[in-house]
Amino acid sequence: MPQSTAKPWAGRFARATDSQVETFTASVHFDGRLYPYDIQGSQAHARGLHRAGVLSEEECETLVKGLAQVRARIDSGEAEWDASLEDVHMNIEAMLVAEVGEVGKKLHTGRSRNDQVATDLRLYARAAQAQLDAEAHALQSVLVERAQAEAETLMVGFTHLQTAQPITLGHHLLAWYEMLRRDRQRLADAFRRTNTLPLGAAALAGSGYPVDRQYLAELLGFDALCDNSLDAVSDRDFAIETCAVLSLLMVHLSRMAEEIILWASPAFGWVDLPDEYCTGSSLMPQKKNPDVLELIRGKSARVGGHLHALLMLMKAQPMAYNRDNQEDKEPLFDSVDTTLACLSVLRAVVQAMEFDRERLREAAAGGYSTATDLADALVARGVAFRDAHHITGQIVAHAAKQGVTLDALKPEEVQQFSPAIDAGLLESLTPERSVAARGLHGGTAPDAVRARAAQAREELAAGPLAMPEQP
Ligand code: ARG
Repeated sequence: MPQSTAKPWAGRFARATDSQVETFTASVHFDGRLYPYDIQGSQAHARGLHRAGVLSEEECETLVKGLAQVRARIDSGEAEWDASLEDVHMNIEAMLVAEVGEVGKKLHTGRSRNDQVATDLRLYARAAQAQLDAEAHALQSVLVERAQAEAETLMVGFTHLQTAQPITLGHHLLAWYEMLRRDRQRLADAFRRTNTLPLGAAALAGSGYPVDRQYLAELLGFDALCDNSLDAVSDRDFAIETCAVLSLLMVHLSRMAEEIILWASPAFGWVDLPDEYCTGSSLMPQKKNPDVLELIRGKSARVGGHLHALLMLMKAQPMAYNRDNQEDKEPLFDSVDTTLACLSVLRAVVQAMEFDRERLREAAAGGYSTATDLADALVARGVAFRDAHHITGQIVAHAAKQGVTLDALKPEEVQQFSPAIDAGLLESLTPERSVAARGLHGGTAPDAVRARAAQAREELAAGPLAMPEQP
């Protein structure tokens, strides 16, 4: 623990802070990363004070430049954080005073750490949302590319993890694209509510100086002002919402990871994961383990946990700011870091994984996957669907007893179940025909997949979330 530095509030206190309390209350070891946003916010605040007639032009310029020098010092790694100064805000203020002298002490006029930290965290959150959106966009782009290439590749579709109907691999990959599309919509929506300005709320009641908050918003690229000073310093919805969006996004990544894990199991043998993305066993020489994917699945639990932490953090807080809110940062930061890492590594895996199209087709053709098509063909020959379902069930049982697929049956063998059956009907029961019959919008037919992939490409052409310039 460093030597205790004089506190800004020392005037009111007769004795120094207990060293245990200093350690307990310090946050600079995790909120230090907010420094670019803290400096950006402080520069805007200095300009706002100048406009309000509180600081002279020269004082304002000295503060703005001094803050830039502090920034450069922190960037270069030369600055040292002092835990006895608690947080990033008080550390930077002390660095500023060291840099520019007495005038540095004027920076905090008409401001509180309460509106300062709320501003910093919103600046951070919106940048994080944009970065997350860019990563999700990149993963979507790889999915669409691979889906386009696999538009005709057959695979088996499951319900209950049991053979259901043949589908195309491109269709399956586009299902993942759609999940991410909604995640990105939610990110954009969270961004809208994040991008409002708390600065000017001061401690809780609003600054006592006639600061032009609209001007501050323009300087910082905020779309709107927080309209109530109490709410401005207390609201952390934007952090909770971000974690909620990320929890769901991580659930999606976890599902994708889980499927690839199954596909890569030798019992399936549908996918080969390149060595670079696998790890081995210290004991079993034959193993090639999908640890990266298992970790994505595992890390989704962390992000969901962080969402819960933030919800519980807020639930009984009275207005306005409470120190509880210092606990908002680690869950948010870790959710963002974790999700960014998972998006990036999953993209690499999706890009590199190799499909075994033969084994995929085998699975598509097995398990009587075209039984629904047989029932539909009987319907086309005038049989009521419920009867067609029953007849097909009998035919499947018959074929299973013989150990053959439906398209290998002879009509005479099964005409006992329905006179409507002819050779053409049985021969048509291939997975290729099955998928081709599902060409409606949203269906699995190769043409439908290609059409949706083309639309998806257009959606992606809009690019990731645009956002105000970063410090
Ligand atoms: N480090 C604090 C936080 O993260 C900053 C605000 C502290 N304000 C206060 N009045 N104690 O929330």
